Amino acid sequence: MSPFTPKQVMPRDDRLFAIIGADMTQSIAEYEVSLLRPFPEDSIIHDAACGLGPVTNSILQTLPPKSIAIHATDLAPPMVGIYNMLSKSKDWPAEARVMDCQKLEFTASTFTHTFLSFGLPIIADPNAAAKEMYRTLQPGGTAVTAFWMSLPQGDSAVETRRVVWGPDARVKVEPHPRHNDPTFNHDLLVEAGFNSGDIKLYESTTSLPVEDLDEFACAIWSIIGEPVGGWKQEDEDRWDEAIEAYKKVLMQKKGFHVDGEGRIVLEGVAQIAIAKKEA
Ligand SMILES: C[S@@+](CC[C@H](N)C(=O)[O-])C[C@H]1O[C@@H](n2cnc3c(N)ncnc32)[C@H](O)[C@@H]1O
Repeated sequence: MSPFTPKQVMPRDDRLFAIIGADMTQSIAEYEVSLLRPFPEDSIIHDAACGLGPVTNSILQTLPPKSIAIHATDLAPPMVGIYNMLSKSKDWPAEARVMDCQKLEFTASTFTHTFLSFGLPIIADPNAAAKEMYRTLQPGGTAVTAFWMSLPQGDSAVETRRVVWGPDARVKVEPHPRHNDPTFNHDLLVEAGFNSGDIKLYESTTSLPVEDLDEFACAIWSIIGEPVGGWKQEDEDRWDEAIEAYKKVLMQKKGFHVDGEGRIVLEGVAQIAIAKKEA
């Protein structure tokens, strides 16, 4: 976070993560794991850009053999802190470390499985991250990546910054220009070294009910509204204007649904790639 933080920014706690839909990536992680064979004895698994640990959680829900090892890594120390708190409370056999997935500290051919779920398009150099997945995977190992083809709440935040602050305005973490391109995942994996024929693509849709649209807008803006260069006084002064603009943009997006009883549901579509490294 930048030295100045608008007073309206919500604290990054369980409540905030629940509002913004941490469960959405959990449901995709469960789908990813369901596409794989059961984890064999002595699997060595990397949960890269682990965030709050939905991949680890999904792996452990399959009740894998006790001999597996899970290595979790994330660039953001607060994420690593939250992962480790969860890990302790849920008794996960895993501990997260701060590490950049563009430059992993693991030696080549370490892992039987490596996951990078919802990271590639927001990582500064997604090619470097994909190459590191390939390098650290054992021959015959499996890599799993996923990212959103469409996520109304995310795209709306990027657009709101431009609507309110002008066409050149940017949020701090803008996704890669090809983040909605269904060939991007595949191309990254091929450039990293995987054979095109060893990559399978899947799609999965998941939804998030929104109970309070004002609170939701405020939560999303708190997490991804921050501009390049950090929050400024102006962001605090124009907070309400940004929230109103965000709601308007969101309501126009594909994936924004209101049912007959006025309940709002947001629908996200993820693409999942499963790649095998040549044996
Ligand atoms: C959208 S979250 C996804 C988290 C989790 N994998 C999931 O499925 O919910 C993206 C994560 O990538 C992490 N991240 C961003 N850049 C990274 C990098 N260069 N190396 C490692 N992690 C990174 C962020 O800190 C964040 O936790």
